[in-house]
Amino acid sequence: MTMIADYVAAHRNAFLQELIGLLQIPSISAQTNHREDVARCAQHLTQLMLASGLERAEVIPTAGHPIAYGEWLGAPGKPTLLIYGHYDVQPADPLNLWTSPPFEPAVRGTELYARGAVDDKGQVHVHLKAVETLIKTSGALPVNLKMMVEGEEEIGSEHLEEFLRTHRERLAADVVIISDTPMLQPEHPAICYGLRGLCYMEIIVEGPAQDLHSGALGGIVANPAQVLAEIIAKLKSPDGRILIPGFYDKVRPLSREERKRLASLPMTPQEWLQLTGSPRLSGEPGYPVVEQLWARPTLDVNGIVGGYIEEGAKTIIPAKASAKISMRLVPNQDPKKIATLFERHIRQLVPPTVKVAVLNHHGAKPFYMALDHPACKVAAGALAEGFGHPTNFIREGGSIPFVNTIAELFGKPCLLIGFGLPDEQAHAPDEHLHLPNYFTGVAAMAEVYERMAALRSA
Ligand code: BES
Ligand code: ZN
Repeated sequence: MTMIADYVAAHRNAFLQELIGLLQIPSISAQTNHREDVARCAQHLTQLMLASGLERAEVIPTAGHPIAYGEWLGAPGKPTLLIYGHYDVQPADPLNLWTSPPFEPAVRGTELYARGAVDDKGQVHVHLKAVETLIKTSGALPVNLKMMVEGEEEIGSEHLEEFLRTHRERLAADVVIISDTPMLQPEHPAICYGLRGLCYMEIIVEGPAQDLHSGALGGIVANPAQVLAEIIAKLKSPDGRILIPGFYDKVRPLSREERKRLASLPMTPQEWLQLTGSPRLSGEPGYPVVEQLWARPTLDVNGIVGGYIEEGAKTIIPAKASAKISMRLVPNQDPKKIATLFERHIRQLVPPTVKVAVLNHHGAKPFYMALDHPACKVAAGALAEGFGHPTNFIREGGSIPFVNTIAELFGKPCLLIGFGLPDEQAHAPDEHLHLPNYFTGVAAMAEVYERMAALRSA
């Protein structure tokens, strides 16, 4: 461990400068005008993979954004790890709310500010530097390692399943490691064994053929914005229960043991509230905050538009109004089935005075893993040693479509070992990464690889 720690300490600045170079590329997968940047980022990553000591690296095209793939297979008979992450980032707007520009990374105190700093380029870079550290200090990796970093995670990983099926042999591994989740507190490592799934829908309500003068023709037709608001209001009861028939049918209740374990985690409701900046908490009655966040499904309006929203007043009945609505799902809800239930319910709520379209944008299945696999224990021990604190076993409320897909396809343990923090503003202005977690993460991940060598390989 000391050789590893010494190497990391001696190369802090070089690591940081390299990460800054990666963060300068605006690889925003959702925006077509950044297509070239996304491709350039994949290319750049393969160069970093080679420079870090992987033997081979290439950009593999998909029907969407490409995948950066690299490998080091010089440990015959030893287990193989598949490391997954994503190099695409969320759009950076609203730009005026950033203290420094999102693609001009800036260090302030212990934090590195940039879009993608924590989600997920910084965490991908932890693995690259763990590889470099081991190869530079001992001349080889203790395990075989494959690294696949995709460019479409933030838009639903649409082409990933096909990629995994096509490259099944090449990607075969004994253990999958993903670093795209937070820990609860600085220097307290965490393994996340559950993620919520997602079902992302859009409702478009259309009435008159064009906007109408609300005096000249108002009063004889339905107003799409009003109708949409009424539909949305009927999706949840005042205490937050989702009113789509059948929505909760497959929700698996928590065991008594898991409830107890989650209740013993360190964050208080007050600390969660502080992360939101909201005046007070508002969740489902009867469920502690972490259960609301990690183990209960939700329905949320992500955006709603319709009619006149510019300066001053304009008297119209809008022709159209629409809303984007997402539902976070928990085991054993299925995004396709939930999309069908949602659409059926919306169609029942819509009056005949308007037309409605219901679109299904993307989805992800929830993920849940038993904690009894030896790889999980080994990793927890290595992380505890690396960070100097015991490893927390947590779930998370976000979604990573890859995780369930690979778990179902490969049937191997998937360890979500993340180095983010809940307050690092992923997807928001001033996204940042706590650098002490990043540097300790590099050394701890090298220790995880080392200890994985003792596992049996298939
Ligand atoms: N890193 C997040 C996933 C995450 C967020 C895990 C919060 C744990 C806590 C990932 O990059 C992400 O944002 N995923 C999307 C997936 C979606 C677009 C299918 C999400 O959860 O919204
Ligand atoms: Zn994200």
